[in-house]
Amino acid sequence: MKPVKVGICGLGTVGGGTFNVLKRNAEEIARRAGRGIEVAQIAARRPNPKCETGSTPITADIFDVANNPEIDVVIELIGGYTLAHELVLKAIENGKHVVTANKALIAVHGNEIFAKAREKGVIVAFEAAVAGGIPVIKAIREGLAANRINWLAGIINGTGNFILTEMREKGRAFADVLKEAQALGYAEADPTFDVEGIDAAHKLTILASIAFGIPLQFDKAYTEGITKLTTADVNYAEALGYRIKHLGVARRTDKGIELRVHPTLIPADRLIANVNGVMNAVMVNGDAAGSTLFYGAGAGMEPTASSVVADLVDVVRVLTTDPENRVPHLAFQPDALSDHPILPIDACESAYYLRIQAKDHPGVLAQVATILSERGINIESVMQMEVEEHDGLVPMILVTHRVLESRIIEAIAALEALDDVVGNVVRIRVEQLN
Ligand code: HSE
Repeated sequence: MKPVKVGICGLGTVGGGTFNVLKRNAEEIARRAGRGIEVAQIAARRPNPKCETGSTPITADIFDVANNPEIDVVIELIGGYTLAHELVLKAIENGKHVVTANKALIAVHGNEIFAKAREKGVIVAFEAAVAGGIPVIKAIREGLAANRINWLAGIINGTGNFILTEMREKGRAFADVLKEAQALGYAEADPTFDVEGIDAAHKLTILASIAFGIPLQFDKAYTEGITKLTTADVNYAEALGYRIKHLGVARRTDKGIELRVHPTLIPADRLIANVNGVMNAVMVNGDAAGSTLFYGAGAGMEPTASSVVADLVDVVRVLTTDPENRVPHLAFQPDALSDHPILPIDACESAYYLRIQAKDHPGVLAQVATILSERGINIESVMQMEVEEHDGLVPMILVTHRVLESRIIEAIAALEALDDVVGNVVRIRVEQLN
């Protein structure tokens, strides 16, 4: 059988890795796919020194690939929302299947892209968009298809996890570690996407859709970054038996779906709390399988290429099948997607870590306890530190039981209004993940 012809758009880190893996493992991949896979064209503005492209035709114009009648599958690895969007729509219009690693594109324009792909009977595959080399899309969409998924929680941004790991293990300051994370080459072109949780929210949006069978709704994801975390909170969390991770949480409740990215205290003995450095992990809780954990490299040249090529193999295997009988893009049949709403953050429920800077006066703890109890907030633990020499204040650290976010917001306003409380109360959500 003739080889399937693919065009790679973008020869950066992931594009170069994809070319190299396809070349190095060509025989093994053909044995799996049932046909050879040939890179028939590459669109790149400049060569990649880590990638020996030989006689493969190279164009500077990505649309040459989307319009090339020889190409069966377009691999979109240019990133971003704008050009990539046009490229993918053009490829679909021309009847080509698409493989992409672009989480932003899928999270923001996925509903439109999948609708167009269905009209044309083509596949848009996106395993590499979430958690790099971890096959978590396939695991949720196919491996856990029997389950009603209750929740998932993931460390899905390697840059942020590297920063938090360095802060905890070496006591380093945030800004200092960020510089090193950027030098490692993991960070997004705009590093605020990593540290403000936007990149993680893109990925969480995709995971939630395939877990719960809902349309992609990136605009409704709550996003809170890690820029305001201090080493003091990292250390207090540690003393209480927790680790702080930048977590994406998607949870199904009767009222709606929680979709939120924020720093989170996790009990230190959970496996996911021990995912360090640039590694990623996603925990998925289903009613039949219970909790499962998927761990691995969340980015990088060949880990991400591993997912791109796996998608390509899937596409090649089903090229001749009836489009109606393929695995649906969002795991659920498109006409069976649910309109269960995404909850605003104040309607979400969590436990909370609170750090209060108080004057060293009698009765402060009693006032704090009263404010919390009046709002039905149950305290799980309290830790009061010694007076700090530099400001004469006493740090009080409390962990609450689960409560509606709106109650905590109210309680914090009341705490901050106390004469004996100085400055803002630090609030970090706590998840037990059990
Ligand atoms: N900037 C991302 C990260 C790259 O740090 O995880 C992979 O999507």
